[in-house]
Amino acid sequence: MKTLLITGGAGFIGSHVVRLFVTNYPDYSIVNLDALTYAGNLENLGDIAGAPNYTFVKGDITDQDFVTNLFQNYNFDGVIHLAAESHVDRSITDPFAFIRTNVFGTANLLNAARLAWKDKMDGKRFYHVSTDEVYGSLGETGFFTEETPYDPRSPYSASKASSDHFVRAYHHTYGLPVVLSNCSNNYGANHFPEKLIPLAIHNIKNNKPIPVYGKGENVRDWLWVNDHARAIDVIFHMGLNGETYNIGGHNEWTNIALIKKLCEIMDRKLGREPGSSAGLITYVKDRAGHDLRYAIDSSKLQRELGWVPSLQFEEGLEKTVDWYLSNQQWLDNVTSGNYQEYYQKQYVQREKN
Ligand code: NAD
Ligand code: TYD
Repeated sequence: MKTLLITGGAGFIGSHVVRLFVTNYPDYSIVNLDALTYAGNLENLGDIAGAPNYTFVKGDITDQDFVTNLFQNYNFDGVIHLAAESHVDRSITDPFAFIRTNVFGTANLLNAARLAWKDKMDGKRFYHVSTDEVYGSLGETGFFTEETPYDPRSPYSASKASSDHFVRAYHHTYGLPVVLSNCSNNYGANHFPEKLIPLAIHNIKNNKPIPVYGKGENVRDWLWVNDHARAIDVIFHMGLNGETYNIGGHNEWTNIALIKKLCEIMDRKLGREPGSSAGLITYVKDRAGHDLRYAIDSSKLQRELGWVPSLQFEEGLEKTVDWYLSNQQWLDNVTSGNYQEYYQKQYVQREKN
């Protein structure tokens, strides 16, 4: 029996990782630690909440006493760390929240693991889940590899880059057994509608403007969230100590092409006149410091650990749209209250300034 701590398990990617581990590894005991910020939602895990090998603990990764006690109480064999502030736009308005959780929170977990495991590091593993945004922005060609120098350009990516450096520092200085991965943009079920794909789906459904930053020419490399969770499983079990693996879909889309594709799918699914949802596309003020292009070379992960994405993008988008259309209650719950305030500030008041 292994006991694993998964942080941020009530969020978008974390909930898929928790489900995969709880379901595929009945002999592991999974502890999900999450502060349940605006992005954390236990509804994401309703189907496995009663599983005998699953425990939810509400708590903040920046709380030193709390995290130390948690490591004492549970004797963890491994940690998969996903808890973070994750939205670039929010990092522009409130960078310190990102420094607190992403940098200090990660260092706090690393330190608790180091102290708890100091007599026997062998067999332990601290897995840090990171982003391709730490590498900066590409021009029209080229890919991020594991050797690409770090060049973060938003407060979000700077905080994630900093946390990656702390993970490697704990490995080199204290011998903490770590593994890292840097993944491209995810999409799929349970994605909070502040991010592009769920926000566009939500707005198209409600006949609201679809905000496209700048000219819509920025490029992202999209990966189905379940394929990211599968990659995390493979890397956690087979990745080499101290190594980093890039994860990506080899699936680049400009934002405008992606939004047009979503409009097409939604027109069909909602029985609308072809082309009608595209009329909702609205170009708005660009994001400050907007990275032009991300594209991941995941050949190391494919070659060394045999992972490949399972789903073509068009099929993934169809599944994602279907999920949002049949989970209206989930959307209603997450878009009530604070979301309205966020939306006003980010899209309505900002345009007026
Ligand atoms: P998310 O915002 O959906 O979820 C983050 C979760 O962390 C939430 O459940 C939240 O409640 C929790 N959390 C936040 N602050 C916390 C704190 N101080 N203590 C405890 N819990 C806290 O994020 P996501 O999109 O699921 O991303 C998960 C991880 O994957 C992050 O580390 C992110 O940097 C990384 N990542 C995300 C993407 C992507 O496309 N979304 C791509 C690559 C890497
Ligand atoms: P996002 O989903 O926030 O992910 P990230 O910034 O981490 O890549 O945004 C994806 C792309 O979509 C990014 O280039 C910004 C753009 N975007 C819009 O054009 N409009 C929006 O309303 C949002 C949220 C994002």
